[in-house]
Amino acid sequence: MEQMIIKGLEGITVAATNISLVDGDHGRLVYRAYWAKDLALQHDFEEVCYLLWHGRLPNEIELKKLKNDFREQRRLPAHLVELLKILPENMPMMSVIRTCISAMGDGSYQWPPKVEEAIKITAVLPTIIAARSHLLKGENVIDPHETLDHVANFLYMLNGEIPLGAHSKVLNAYFVLTMEHGMNASTFSSRVIASTESDIVSAITGAIGAMKGPLHGGAPSEVTAMLDEIGSKENAEGWIREQLEKGKKLMGFGHRIYKTRDPRAEALKEMTSQLTKEDPWLDLAVHVEAEAIRLLEEYKPGRKLYTNVEFYAAAVLRAVNMPAELFTPTFTSSRVAGWTANVMEQSLDNRIYRPSSLYNGGMPKD
Ligand SMILES: CC(C)(COP(=O)(O)OP(=O)(O)OC[C@H]1O[C@@H](n2cnc3c(N)ncnc32)[C@H](O)[C@@H]1OP(=O)(O)O)[C@@H](O)C(=O)NCCC(=O)NCCS
Repeated sequence: MEQMIIKGLEGITVAATNISLVDGDHGRLVYRAYWAKDLALQHDFEEVCYLLWHGRLPNEIELKKLKNDFREQRRLPAHLVELLKILPENMPMMSVIRTCISAMGDGSYQWPPKVEEAIKITAVLPTIIAARSHLLKGENVIDPHETLDHVANFLYMLNGEIPLGAHSKVLNAYFVLTMEHGMNASTFSSRVIASTESDIVSAITGAIGAMKGPLHGGAPSEVTAMLDEIGSKENAEGWIREQLEKGKKLMGFGHRIYKTRDPRAEALKEMTSQLTKEDPWLDLAVHVEAEAIRLLEEYKPGRKLYTNVEFYAAAVLRAVNMPAELFTPTFTSSRVAGWTANVMEQSLDNRIYRPSSLYNGGMPKD
C-alpha cells in the first residue's frame, strides 16, 4: 500500500483532550467547558491554572493555597542566580529561559508529572525573565513581591514599582487568553517528550525550544512598529489606505484558522476598551483597529479579515511598557500553564508517540 505523507500532521488527530477546544470556524476558544474569554475577564491567572491542571475552578481555600504556593516558589533557586550571571550576554531571552528551566531538573523530578512540579516551573518563569533583564542592564535584581499575585508581581519585578491596577488587569487577561491553544507545535512537543515517560522539566524545556521559533512564538513587535509609524488617530485612515493601495498587508489582521473574529482578540479588545481613557496607546490601538477593519472590507471585500490575537497582544504588552524583546518570553510565561496541563493529561493515558517516515534514500548496491 502506498504510504501517504501528511506534512506538518495537518488535520491528523493525535490525542483526545479535555483541556481546550479551538474552533476556528465559529471563533470559539474553550478551556475545560468554560469560554476562555469569560475566564480572562473574570478570573486571575492562578485560578485558571488550577482549572487547567485540576479540571475545575478552585474554591476560596484552594485558591488561597495555590496563590501562596506560587509566592513561595517564585524565588530563584541559588544555582539559577549564579547561572544567569554566567550565560553569554548575547544569549536570546528564550534561550536563557530554556537553559534555566532545564537547570531546574534535579533528581526530584520524576515521571509521572505532578501539579506541584507544574507550580514550581510556572511560578519561577517570570522571575527568570525579570532577573536576566536587570542583570543585562547592570542593575540589581528585584526580589519577588511578598503579597502581589503572579501577573502583578511580574510587572513589579520588571519595573520595581507596584503596577497600576489597570495594567495588572489587562496583562492578566492576556495571560489567561494565551495560556492554552490546542495541539500547537510547542504543546505537541511537550506531549511527545512526556510520552517517553521523561520528566516534566524535560518536556517543558523542549516546548520552550519549539516556542522560540518565529513561526510559532510570533512577532507582535511588528504590530507595535506599525502603530508607532501611524502615531496618531488623525494619521490612521491615510496611512492604512496607502498600505492597502500598495498591496501591503496590515500587521495583526487575518488568520489561518479563525475565519471569523479571533475570540482572544475580542476579549482583549473588551478589556482594553475599558482602559482607553487611562492609556493613550490603547486608545490609538482601538481606533486603528476600527479603521483597519472598515478599510479591509473596502479594499478586500469578502476575505473575512479580522483582528488576530497578535494585534491586541502587542497593544496590551506595549501599554504595560513591556519591551518588545520580552513579548515572546511573556507569551511563554502564560503558555507554560497549558504545556504542564497537557503533560499531566498525557501521563494519564500514555502511549509513546512513534509515527513513521517514508524512506527515499535508495538501497545498498549488493
Ligand atoms: C495571518 C495570515 C498569514 C493568514 O493568511 P491566509 O489565511 O493564508 O490568507 P491569505 O494570505 O491567503 O489572504 C487572503 C486575502 O486577504 C488578503 N489579506 C490577508 N491578510 C491581510 C492583511 N493583514 N492585510 C491586508 N490584506 C490581507 C490577502 O492579500 C489576500 O488577498 P487577495 O485575495 O486579493 O489575494 C495573513 O492574514 C497575514 O499575513 N496577516 C498579516 C500578518 C499577521 O498579522 N500575522 C500574525 C498572525 S497571528
